[in-house]
Amino acid sequence: MKQTFITLTCLYLISLLPGELLAQGFGPRTPEQDSLMARQQRKTQADHQLMMTALHISALRPGPSGNPKAPNAANVDEAKATTYTTLPDPLTLKNGQPVSSAKTWWAKRRPELVEDFDREVYGRMPANTPGVRWEVVSQKDTVEGSHPIRLKRLVGHVDNSTYPALTVNIDMVLATPLAATGPVPVMLEFGFRFPPGFRMPQPPTSTTAPAPPSWQQQLLAKGWGYAIIYPTSFQADNGAGLTEGIIGLVNKGKPRQPDDWGTLRAWAWGASRALDYFETDKAVDARQVGIEGLSRFGKAAAVAMAYEPRFAIGFIGSSGEGGVKIHRRTFGEQVENLAGSGEYHWMAGNFIKYAGPLTPNDLPVDAHELVALCAPRPVFISVGSPTVEGQWVDAKGLFLGGAYASPVYELLGKKGLGTMVFPPMETALIDGDIAFRQHSGGHTTGPNWPTFLQFADRYMQVKAGK
Ligand code: GCU
Repeated sequence: MKQTFITLTCLYLISLLPGELLAQGFGPRTPEQDSLMARQQRKTQADHQLMMTALHISALRPGPSGNPKAPNAANVDEAKATTYTTLPDPLTLKNGQPVSSAKTWWAKRRPELVEDFDREVYGRMPANTPGVRWEVVSQKDTVEGSHPIRLKRLVGHVDNSTYPALTVNIDMVLATPLAATGPVPVMLEFGFRFPPGFRMPQPPTSTTAPAPPSWQQQLLAKGWGYAIIYPTSFQADNGAGLTEGIIGLVNKGKPRQPDDWGTLRAWAWGASRALDYFETDKAVDARQVGIEGLSRFGKAAAVAMAYEPRFAIGFIGSSGEGGVKIHRRTFGEQVENLAGSGEYHWMAGNFIKYAGPLTPNDLPVDAHELVALCAPRPVFISVGSPTVEGQWVDAKGLFLGGAYASPVYELLGKKGLGTMVFPPMETALIDGDIAFRQHSGGHTTGPNWPTFLQFADRYMQVKAGK
């Protein structure tokens, strides 16, 4: 069992890593790994087909390629990106009436948007999800860099009494500074899980300059704590896993309905359960917990922030298509990619429709409205360099996701992004409650942590204990 877990984890990571990292981090795949992967892919294909049949769809438009040299490469020419004349207005009700007060936003417009995102985009979280019992499985006092910390390993045991055939556990670690005199702010990261012995290859560093502090050390230096939740511990990152994990448990092992929750919503559910735990841990100030993630976990962080009002701040890293990138933009990754068998599991089954017969223009909502659901809470949108990270993620599409959400923040008495003009690289737009910065590195939030923390300082404080 443990062996299978490690093998699958390795396969998962292999599928994520670019070739050159792969060559350094892992050896070639064994025949056993190949056959496991093939079996998983067949199960995914079958589930994707089942959903297409349920939706009466016989064919989908294929998405473009992420390989810039491929004949069907995704568009990276700004002149050819659409000008989205049909971008939905977050401040117009479905009946055509303008939303001109905070009251109408909360009572009418926000619920309309939530319903559309639930039904067509991320899927509905079940009305009743099972309870979670958190257990501290180990605890030790140690150091991280030069910071003394208390490190807890936690497991959230999900109540499976309605369907004992599936066991679901949420894995998490929590580190808080030992010097704290009261509950501390915590950043919760959706973490990639590395198998034992694997070391993420690091970029070459100069031997004279000391390595910059890690994000964890930057938080601890401010007197904050950090936590890492492992989303794939409770919901696998593929279509084959939809009849297992928390989604499978609630459905008693049956496939999803078209408006059932997808994996992003399930990962966000797990982050909410982590917050439930923080509310019981005296070391954590549960009213000052932020959520952070990169890429697919950047999408999950955006979804968690939008749906869970207890998250105080969001740090949304390179979330791309399905995150805060405008769907109606022909640049980089497209709706058609998200609807394909490799990614559809992140979304509601209904989302597949928008890759045929419908089009992205038919979506009742777009990504700026996901940012709007986070209002009035602060959100930092992060992306890397087009030459190092690549253009698949669509930096400008992410920026616009924030920019077009600004009117909602302003209606609620906050400040939006403050400009509609895409800024030069490394320009920090952090004066408003929606922030944006494109760093000059690759597919990581790393270089943006200092700017994020500068932004976050306006909202989060370490309070002295009694
Ligand atoms: C793929 C996918 C992206 C995703 C990324 C990741 O590139 O197309 O949407 O964000 O993987 O999670 O690394």
